[in-house]
Amino acid sequence: MNTITTKKLHIERVTTSSIHEVDFTNLVFGKTFTDHMFECDFKDGSWQTPTIKPYGPMMISPGAKVFHYGQAVFEGMKAYKDDNDDVFLFRPEQNIERINKSSMRMAIPEFPVDVFMDALHTLVGMDKDWIQKGEGNSLYLRPFAVATEVGVSASPSNEYKFMILMAPVQAYYKGAVKVLIAEKFSRSASGGVGAVKAAGNYGAQFYPTALAQEKGFQQIIWTDSDEHKYLEEAGTMNVFFRINDTLITAPVSDRILDGVTRKSILEMAKFNGIQTQVRKLTVEELIEAEKQGSLKEIFGAGTAAVVSLISHFGYKDKVYELPKVEDSYASSFKKQLMDLQYNKTQDPFGWRVEVK
Ligand code: COI
Repeated sequence: MNTITTKKLHIERVTTSSIHEVDFTNLVFGKTFTDHMFECDFKDGSWQTPTIKPYGPMMISPGAKVFHYGQAVFEGMKAYKDDNDDVFLFRPEQNIERINKSSMRMAIPEFPVDVFMDALHTLVGMDKDWIQKGEGNSLYLRPFAVATEVGVSASPSNEYKFMILMAPVQAYYKGAVKVLIAEKFSRSASGGVGAVKAAGNYGAQFYPTALAQEKGFQQIIWTDSDEHKYLEEAGTMNVFFRINDTLITAPVSDRILDGVTRKSILEMAKFNGIQTQVRKLTVEELIEAEKQGSLKEIFGAGTAAVVSLISHFGYKDKVYELPKVEDSYASSFKKQLMDLQYNKTQDPFGWRVEVK
């Protein structure tokens, strides 16, 4: 267990907010940050004073280990505003639990949960004017930890920064996406880091995704690294398949991320009486279901995109179009999730957390 020198949050406020420079109707995802950020350094074996300070560039040595060995983890979460200007988080305990799991896998010291929660609530509360009301609008919260010790020896850093940035965002994808099923590249491998949010998992997707984009697809459906036989994730999201009226998703494993949206959808499906199967699904089974007409929907699920409907998938030079179903599970889960996140409905699951 890691100690912290002081739990008392130190706060430095901006003198002038930059909120008036922002065009909230034309945001590029994650490009604009709020006035404040959270920062806490790890050195001499413990986390130092947790600090909220004005957002801005920071000094970091080019010799810092993060630049050489990618010792970095992150999280994605959101804050939402309801019609009464009250602000809510969605299952934040899941994110701190997961970033600590990611940190452990990347040999980064875990961050104290109570300090994280206090910092998060204070930071979101301080910059809550940056959260726009209305569906699709939210504040994307980006906790991350990076290795800051100077040195290019290939060994874990003795110094780190744990930070939280906040970016006002609109919807991640504007419409349904076309995906290509991976035949060669993989996002993760057994025994690797696919189950955690290691920064490099995402960087390694850019090249194969760019190749898929050249062919007219926006994202890749990742398959297992051994045989490219099993359907595992879609782009940066978990992936769901609806065959007849059964909802199928891959089991979490050391290759597959335990997504918060994924697990919420599974729980909502059970609550709605929808049959679910958490099992491996092969590409062959998918193509067969498409031929039989029993494949009704494919959608991705993640914090940034919420639920992202897939309109087409490509495999071995053939493009398959998904039918347009009237009783779409994707639309229904998206609505239920957003109603819950934006405080428009009861929360039978206890997932919504108000920021006071
Ligand atoms: C998220 O959904 O928060 C993600 O991890 C996607 C992110 C890479 C934009």
